[in-house]
Amino acid sequence: MRALFIGGTGFISAAVSRMAVAQGLELYLLNRGTRTADVPGSHALTADIHRPDDVRAALKDLEFDVVVDWIAYVPRDIERDLALFRHGVTQYVFISSASAYQKPPADYLITEATPLHNPYWQYSRDKIACEERLMRAYREEGFPVTIVRPSMTYDTNLPIALGGWGTYTLADRLLAGRPIIVHGDGSSLWVVTHADDFARGFLGLLGDDRALGQAFHITSDEVLTWNRIYETIAEALGVEARIVHIPSDYIAQVAPEMAGSLLGDKTWSVVFDNSKIKAFVPGFGAVVPFRDGIRRTLAWFAADAGRRHVDASANAEMDRILEAYARAFA
Ligand SMILES: NC(=O)c1ccc[n+]([C@@H]2O[C@H](COP(=O)([O-])OP(=O)(O)OC[C@H]3O[C@@H](n4cnc5c(N)ncnc54)[C@H](OP(=O)(O)O)[C@@H]3O)[C@@H](O)[C@H]2O)c1
Repeated sequence: MRALFIGGTGFISAAVSRMAVAQGLELYLLNRGTRTADVPGSHALTADIHRPDDVRAALKDLEFDVVVDWIAYVPRDIERDLALFRHGVTQYVFISSASAYQKPPADYLITEATPLHNPYWQYSRDKIACEERLMRAYREEGFPVTIVRPSMTYDTNLPIALGGWGTYTLADRLLAGRPIIVHGDGSSLWVVTHADDFARGFLGLLGDDRALGQAFHITSDEVLTWNRIYETIAEALGVEARIVHIPSDYIAQVAPEMAGSLLGDKTWSVVFDNSKIKAFVPGFGAVVPFRDGIRRTLAWFAADAGRRHVDASANAEMDRILEAYARAFA
C-alpha cells in the first residue's frame, strides 16, 4: 500500500509514520521539512501545503492508495484536498478532534454517535464543518473518506491543559518547585493516549473499505483525573506538584485565549467508549499506562537539552493568572 501523509512528523503523526514504515507501507511524508522527527524508510516530499503549485510540483505524477491529512483545520483545507485527491485514492483520512463532541456533554461516556456540537471553541466548530463537507463528498461523489477524532494524545509532548502545549515548560516549573495551575478542582475525568497506542488502532483502519464513510476515536481505556495526570508527571520527575486549583470560568475571564480549550474541552469529564475501533481492528486495545508512557516522554526530553524548550510567555501567563487569583482572595 502506498500512502501519503500530509504532515506526518508531528506529535501524534511521527509515531504513526514510524509504525507505518515498520508495517511495510510505502510512505511519503509531505511537509516543510522544519521538524526534526526522524522517520527512516519514508520518502520526504517538501512543500508548504498552503502553496498548491509547490504541492503539485512535489507530488509530480505520484499516485497513492491512501492519503492522510494530519493538518487540515478549516473547510478551505478540505476543498483543496478534494481538488488534489478526488480522483485516484481509495481512502482519504481526515484527522478531526474529539473536542468536536457535544459540549457540555449530555453523557460522560462518548461514542461515535455522540452529537458534534461545540459552542465554546472555534477550532472544534471548524473541525465539525470539515467533517460535514467530507461526508457530503462521500454521499454525493463517493469520496472515500474516513474520519479519525484523536483525543489528547502524547509522545514527545506533555498531555496537559495548561502550561505551554508542546514544550517542556510545565516540567521545568515542577522541577523548580514553582506552582502549577490545575483547572477546576482537578477531579474531572480525562483520558490521555500514548501515540504508539493510537498508531496501532489507526493503522488498522488503513486499506479497510468498511471504514469508508465512518468516523472513529482511538483512545486509551485508562481514565484519570486531572489531579492524577499532573501528579503522575511530577512523580515521574521525582518531585511533588505544587497544585493551585483555579476555576475554569475564572481562568477564561483573565486569559480569554484559553477559554475555548478549557470551556470547550478540558473542563468537562470525558470518557471514551472504544468499542467501535476494537470491532474494526481485531486485537486493538491501548496497552501503555500513563505511568509508563509519561516516563518515556520525559526520557525523550532528558536525552537532549535542545528538546527542553521553555516557553517564557506561557510561564508569564501562568504567573499572571496565579497572581490575579491570589489577589482576588487577598
Ligand atoms: N495532539 C493532540 O492531542 C490532538 C488532539 C486532537 C486532535 N489533534 C489533531 O491532530 C493533528 C495534529 O497532529 P500532530 O500533533 O501529529 O501534528 P503537529 O504536531 O501539529 O505537526 C504538524 C505537522 O505538519 C507539518 N506542517 C505544519 N505546517 C505545514 C504546512 N504549512 N505545510 C506542510 N506541512 C506542514 C509539520 O512539519 P513541518 O513543520 O516540517 O512542515 C508536522 O509534520 C491536528 O489535525 C489536530 O487537530 C491532535
